[in-house]
Amino acid sequence: MKIKWTIASDIDGTLVGDRKALDRLTTRLREARAAGLIMLVLSTGRRLEQVIDGIAVEGLPEPDAVLCQVGTEIYLPPLQPTSIPMPAWRERLLQDYARDEAESFLEGIEGLVMQPKAFNTELKASCYLDSCDDPEAAASDIRRRVAPHADRYQVVWSSGRDLDILPAASGKGKAIRFLVEHLGLDTDHVVVAGDTGNDATMFEEFGRGVVVGNAQQELVVLAKSLGVERAFLARQAYAAGVEEGLEYFGVLEPSKSSV
Ligand code: GLC
Repeated sequence: MKIKWTIASDIDGTLVGDRKALDRLTTRLREARAAGLIMLVLSTGRRLEQVIDGIAVEGLPEPDAVLCQVGTEIYLPPLQPTSIPMPAWRERLLQDYARDEAESFLEGIEGLVMQPKAFNTELKASCYLDSCDDPEAAASDIRRRVAPHADRYQVVWSSGRDLDILPAASGKGKAIRFLVEHLGLDTDHVVVAGDTGNDATMFEEFGRGVVVGNAQQELVVLAKSLGVERAFLARQAYAAGVEEGLEYFGVLEPSKSSV
């Protein structure tokens, strides 16, 4: 059987949040993978070790690929804490990204707190803005600083708290496209799922996306502007919302509970 769909889903707040619903979805995805019908990509801001833990203890489905650190790292199985990210993707991104310069856009913003070292990598400068007087204004300020350098850097703003400065050529959406093309799969048959601003590039890059019912406003607003054909707003939260959306797009058969 030929793989028909690539499913790329965010983890926190999308798959994770309701364990019972996740267990049900994981079982269905496992069956679809075993039948050779889908390729499953976990697309996250987590580090690889946290994804490996998630598979072992949080009930995450076994994936065919993992995108970590908001699409700046791509990993293929076997997944081990010592796995190295795909060199071709890393080298492509390193060409146009200078970590020092990325960090310089964050200088002097009052209340800004850098994220822990583990989330500040050679390809990602990340901070928290929720201690700023006006986090939205601080994010806009940083956006304005980065704008003249948009050929090399992009700003990802999520959940009223997290701000990342990534290579312009990276992000979850572009990383998925690179991976799908690398594996020789159909880029027209990709369904994505997410809940926050760092998922936005997946929705912009592909024609079908599922916004879970508990999503942040920033993603809901984007989804509404794209329209239901491209961005389905699920009624249900977390994994149940992902399942609802995969049924809507015909990737999974309607389940008994939803008919
Ligand atoms: C995840 C990452 C964090 C990032 C956030 C938003 O929480 O760990 O570094 O800022 O996603 O992209």
